[in-house]
Amino acid sequence: MIKLSAVEKTALLTACKRREIDPTTYSRLSQLFPDLIVEVDDHIEHDDIYSLELQIRQILIEEAVLKVGGDVIVELGCGLSSLGRDVGNTLDADVLEVDLPGIMEIRERAFSHTHSDKIKLLSGDVLNGQLWKSVREAVPKGARVCVVCEGLLRYFPMNEKRFIAEKVFDLTLADGFWISCDVTLTEMLKVESSNPDIRDRELASTVLAGASNNSFASKADCISFFAGLGFSVDLLSAVDALPSLLKHLPRCSYEDILEASRFVNILTMTNSQ
Ligand SMILES: C[S@@+](CC[C@H](N)C(=O)[O-])C[C@H]1O[C@@H](n2cnc3c(N)ncnc32)[C@H](O)[C@@H]1O
Repeated sequence: MIKLSAVEKTALLTACKRREIDPTTYSRLSQLFPDLIVEVDDHIEHDDIYSLELQIRQILIEEAVLKVGGDVIVELGCGLSSLGRDVGNTLDADVLEVDLPGIMEIRERAFSHTHSDKIKLLSGDVLNGQLWKSVREAVPKGARVCVVCEGLLRYFPMNEKRFIAEKVFDLTLADGFWISCDVTLTEMLKVESSNPDIRDRELASTVLAGASNNSFASKADCISFFAGLGFSVDLLSAVDALPSLLKHLPRCSYEDILEASRFVNILTMTNSQ
């Protein structure tokens, strides 16, 4: 019996929200871990706009990663998403997937049909220095690394975000990249908390309260945080990528794409040190 922390359960939340766009993962999870899925799925509203937001995040992250490339894709807080291994597969890159132990135990089984010798799974806490040592050991010397994360940084206060960012900086030395949509703005949290679509109170408070002190006041504030650590930072607002999104999402209306895009921002951070 796998016991998940509330933070790990957020990965089930996004996997359930993605059930329309990633039915394979959802159905494997439902078969392998029916109790866990029911526990989360029964407590969320399945509004299309949030699912569309998740889709938009992944489309834009994927585009950004494919543009910069890399020999090794490191996905931090991979949860139950196939994003990192999908781009790794397209780029023929090695992939290293990192998350907390309970969720990695689930991932190991749920994704067994797409495991390959190019994909490594690593259990650990991104706040633990030992984990970073294992990540560095798993990356071949001289390899160009592209780190990806989606929905991870919001859980951490600024000092912990800084710790993680410094570790990513060390890992991406030699022209590596860090692509992330983790621009949690205070304005966005206000909207999220006035529209709680998660009825499980522990899960809701992990998702919302966990982030309330940890958000950026503005996009400029977010850019200067990462630039202050040495990265060259480029921020793409999804609303500026609407022409590309409309092409990717031909069955969605312009209005829905616009609404789902409003809080999606993609950071491309380059380490040219
Ligand atoms: C909202 S989920 C996102 C998962 C996945 N990226 C997605 O988009 O579906 C957040 C993920 O971050 C992971 N996480 C949170 N704190 C972590 C930590 N300290 N170390 C490693 N992973 C962590 C959780 O276990 C969870 O899988």
